[in-house]
Amino acid sequence: MSSHRIAVIPGDGIGREVVPAARAVLDAVTARHAVSFEYEEFDWSCGGYLRDGTMMPPDGIERLRSFDAIFLGAVGDPRVPDHVSLWGLLIPIRRAFRQYVNLRPARLFPGVDGPLRAGSAIDLVVVRENVEGEYSEIGGRLSRGFPDEMAVQEAVFTRPGVTRIVDYALELAAGRSGRLTSATKSNGIVHTMPFWDEIVSERAAAHSTVEVTREHIDALCAKVVLDPGRFDVIVGSNLFGDILSDLTAAVTGSIGMAPSANLNPERDFPSMFEPVHGSAPDIAGRGVANPVGAIWSAAMMLDHLGHREAGAEVVDAIAATLADGSVRTPDLGGTATTGEFTGAVVAALGQR
Ligand SMILES: NC(=O)c1ccc[n+]([C@@H]2O[C@H](COP(=O)([O-])OP(=O)(O)OC[C@H]3O[C@@H](n4cnc5c(N)ncnc54)[C@H](O)[C@@H]3O)[C@@H](O)[C@H]2O)c1
Repeated sequence: MSSHRIAVIPGDGIGREVVPAARAVLDAVTARHAVSFEYEEFDWSCGGYLRDGTMMPPDGIERLRSFDAIFLGAVGDPRVPDHVSLWGLLIPIRRAFRQYVNLRPARLFPGVDGPLRAGSAIDLVVVRENVEGEYSEIGGRLSRGFPDEMAVQEAVFTRPGVTRIVDYALELAAGRSGRLTSATKSNGIVHTMPFWDEIVSERAAAHSTVEVTREHIDALCAKVVLDPGRFDVIVGSNLFGDILSDLTAAVTGSIGMAPSANLNPERDFPSMFEPVHGSAPDIAGRGVANPVGAIWSAAMMLDHLGHREAGAEVVDAIAATLADGSVRTPDLGGTATTGEFTGAVVAALGQR
């Protein structure tokens, strides 16, 4: 039996509701595939910050280091500024463990009505650069409280950082449709984005089987709304990838459905799996959160740990449950609870 140690951080709000849902599906699928997961739970969250003044303890990264993977719900609380929760937990984990690939698939499942006119099949992956770019700590505030108060924030694009994310996206595209779209804005952002474009062109020349298209991020957003079916793999910087993947989640039905993997492809450190959505304070505590994003993220974790068949079985069970249509959470127009939907996914495992 293959066995793995998983660190679990449920976090805040609906994170604490969708993580048990993903664990229930994992328990069922691992039992079917002779895989053993040993979980250790870490109660690091905004709730913890309000209690102790820190999002995670000073040795938090060291405590996570020996795990095979990290599974996270969501962090965020209206009483805690969002940059505190992001920079106190998520970003330190992504950076300390060199999780430079943020993989965010989006698929319009049969039976789900997206917000767009019917007709377009959507099955794409956003590859977001995850450790540099616009989300940098370099900068500061000056003249606080005076009329001439100012803020400066530097974007950081390094040759190795751009090269490795573009190479990852090219290889992913080569294994799918052979088409890659690069999100840019080199008409307006005159230093970093032309640099990004240059490296995309260089790396594309080295992967001649992949057809690479360049789109400015604003036009790309419009095209994702007008004709999402034309895209397969899209690579973008930290900020562009972040915004674009919320959009691709929205056009496939609900932000609650979108999964993500923060990958350290070299496997020197644990990778982290989490739904794209946040803690959703507006629905937290009601037991109605859509658990698909978390369950699909768990399937991506199975894939990463080498259990492709088990991962595919989970995605098939999600698809079958959505196609059946009788059990749906309210964000998809249904009345099912998180637990009822999860039960239906567990029941659908291995049915195909
Ligand atoms: N990775 C993370 O932990 C993460 C990501 C995004 C936002 N956040 C944090 O979460 C908090 C709330 O942020 P927000 O409101 O901008 O985004 P959000 O994703 O929490 O919610 C946006 C909207 O989508 C709905 N929604 C989200 N997930 C859903 C699900 N699974 N099922 C049904 N509906 C769902 C919510 O009810 C809300 O109306 C903030 O503190 C933010 O910083 C955390």
